[in-house]
Amino acid sequence: MGEGRARIAASILNANLGNLAYEVRRVIRAGADRIHLDVMDARFVPNLTFGAGTIRALRPVTKVPFDAHLMIAQPGRWLDEFLEAGCDSITIHVEISEPIEPVLRRIRAAGRAAGLALRPGTPLATLEPYRELLDIVMVMTVEPGFGGQAFMADVAKAKILPARDLLSHKPWGGEVHVDGGVNRETAELVGGLGADVLVVGTALFTKGRDQAREVRLVRTLADEGFANDLNAGVPPRPRDEMVRFAQLPKHLAGPLRDAIEKLDVPVLMLRGDGQINPDGVRDYDLLVPRSAEGWARDHFTEARDAASADAAAWRARLLAAAGDARPDPGA
Ligand code: DX5
Ligand code: ZN
Repeated sequence: MGEGRARIAASILNANLGNLAYEVRRVIRAGADRIHLDVMDARFVPNLTFGAGTIRALRPVTKVPFDAHLMIAQPGRWLDEFLEAGCDSITIHVEISEPIEPVLRRIRAAGRAAGLALRPGTPLATLEPYRELLDIVMVMTVEPGFGGQAFMADVAKAKILPARDLLSHKPWGGEVHVDGGVNRETAELVGGLGADVLVVGTALFTKGRDQAREVRLVRTLADEGFANDLNAGVPPRPRDEMVRFAQLPKHLAGPLRDAIEKLDVPVLMLRGDGQINPDGVRDYDLLVPRSAEGWARDHFTEARDAASADAAAWRARLLAAAGDARPDPGA
């Protein structure tokens, strides 16, 4: 996984479809963070690619996330097959005619990330009714249907930054994906607009091109763009990195962890490098995802400070009790 912020999802649409398992292994070895699977039904888009069977066959090849991009007219009809095939996220198009909400709910009920993609000409506002059900907003910067098309910079500038607002209900884990024409020429703009996942297809599967170098270039340029346009020149850190939020004795760390996790933010509780308490047990660290650090501060600083005060009182009681129990040196 890259040390920076940008994540690269390799679209295998233009890979050697006659040797897909090899192509998936190769692009993961080259540093891609996930595989982007473009499913097309020749109805929603004028092209036909592969279905759930191909994804199922590829699943054992790698543990990295599979992001399915369903450019199909009836995703609800085929959804169970894509879930069983092992997709980690499933993104459907907001332009389809069948009801969208039930499909998004089924994806999430299956414990996968649910996304909505929109064509270049579709306004972001069309996603508004579904915002609470979104884990992913996929901004298409080409007309869906084919790889190797020209990047639509005006669409990127109009949609990528505001797309984040549609994920404001998610303290962590929400992702803006940009799909279509992303490569070394366009990565800096895309990163500078805050994209989390850059879908890269043709640029990675162009004959003679060094895939690992392409992944490094796109990732570095995207992070450069983020640093200079959104982060006051400070290089970005991984959004999914775990950072310390609290350091408490075990019996106080546990309840705070439970309270935070109740709001759907994961917490790691680890024996840290904090102080050793009078009971001989070191304090525990509570770690939250970096992308949820601000949210945790806003919502749990009070609870954390109360727990710290309880911890201090608890330590004092233990020490006093030990002091009482200690044999009187003068005796
Ligand atoms: C187009 C697909 C994209 C495309 C990306 O309909 O959704 O994922 O394959 O490929 P490039 O990077 O070649 O535009
Ligand atoms: Zn795609």
